[in-house]
Amino acid sequence: MRYHILEELSKLTASGLKRQLKLVEGPQGPRVFINGNAVILLCSNDYLGLANHPLVKEAAKDAIDRWGFGAGASRLVSGNMEPHIMLEERIRRFKGTESALLFNSGYNANLGAVCALSGRETDIFSDKLNHASIVDACVLSRANVKRYPNKDIGSLETQLKKSKARRKLIVTDGVFSMDGTIAPLKDIVSLLDRYNASLLVDDAHATGVLGKSGRGTLEHFGLSHPSIIQMGTLGKAVGAFGAYIAGPSELIDLLISKARPFIYTTALPPAVCAAAIKAIDIIDETPSLREKLWKNISIFKKGLEGAGLDTMGSETQIIPVIVKSAERAMGISAKLLDKGVFIQGIRPPTVPEGTSRLRVTVTAAHTEEDLNFALSAIKEAFNG
Ligand SMILES: Cc1ncc(COP(=O)(O)O)c(C=O)c1O
Repeated sequence: MRYHILEELSKLTASGLKRQLKLVEGPQGPRVFINGNAVILLCSNDYLGLANHPLVKEAAKDAIDRWGFGAGASRLVSGNMEPHIMLEERIRRFKGTESALLFNSGYNANLGAVCALSGRETDIFSDKLNHASIVDACVLSRANVKRYPNKDIGSLETQLKKSKARRKLIVTDGVFSMDGTIAPLKDIVSLLDRYNASLLVDDAHATGVLGKSGRGTLEHFGLSHPSIIQMGTLGKAVGAFGAYIAGPSELIDLLISKARPFIYTTALPPAVCAAAIKAIDIIDETPSLREKLWKNISIFKKGLEGAGLDTMGSETQIIPVIVKSAERAMGISAKLLDKGVFIQGIRPPTVPEGTSRLRVTVTAAHTEEDLNFALSAIKEAFNG
């Protein structure tokens, strides 16, 4: 076994694709410590700065005193506790859906929903830039998977027209996680009745960010439809951990009985649920956080584009800067770290070959000074 592992590792090293962990010292925030050095963090998904919010921490601590730490079992055995029900009710109200169900992560939510809703008799239509969890879910589902070019509604409709499947499921990221672009949901929703299809929207990066009240891509476009299933994570703008599927009650009933990543896993710790409830309250009560985030997005995008850098059509807080070569992307990322700015370089297989990039994420917690410092460092690193 050791030989095979070393062989695999040397292949990864030779192709520049060996990954390494970086230690973030102390809590998450706009400024963190790495190797003892203070750096501006520009690759976190804590978009509203809630991961280290005093009220969120207090909610978690109180919940530990009241409910202990672990849930001890899966929800369907004896792990179903009051904070799980309270959080599902909070999500249901936040999203304005009939019902919601918790999952232990967004990865699990996508696996659970896609597999429970499809099988050999299903055609799944999946955007080529969908997140890896959707790609894996499609494989596990045993459905016939048709991948359409990113945001290409013409190709999607052609595939739907050809499909003879009894069940059709379209799956798309709401905000594409490596490009920061928004899925053309109005056009996709207009196809649902015509082709008798359902739609799963992965709002991992839209929850708390898009729409007047931060409810996600459907609110952004002013859309609703009975055949839409919404997935969202609690580990990004919500600053906690876990995920949910929100939609009609019968969908949630089906998932409780059929979604294996829901059934066969220990329930989320109650304190995680209490923290997420508090964070959603803050999102609801503090629109100024979202306003600040969008102001920061505008400052940073203008700064990058003003310096002649290509941000790949980003429309959101995820702002990629294209580099192309994986080696150069990792080199620029390392240079930036030396200059006090942490931006992860992203390379294949996470993004297509030849499109390696720096994936910048700005948050509401960054100051204008942080952003200007980072912009100068980026310009230097690209030119140096
Ligand atoms: C689009 C998308 N979907 C799902 C996930 C997975 O969510 P989680 O981190 O909660 O597992 C991510 C996170 O990286 C994501 O970017």
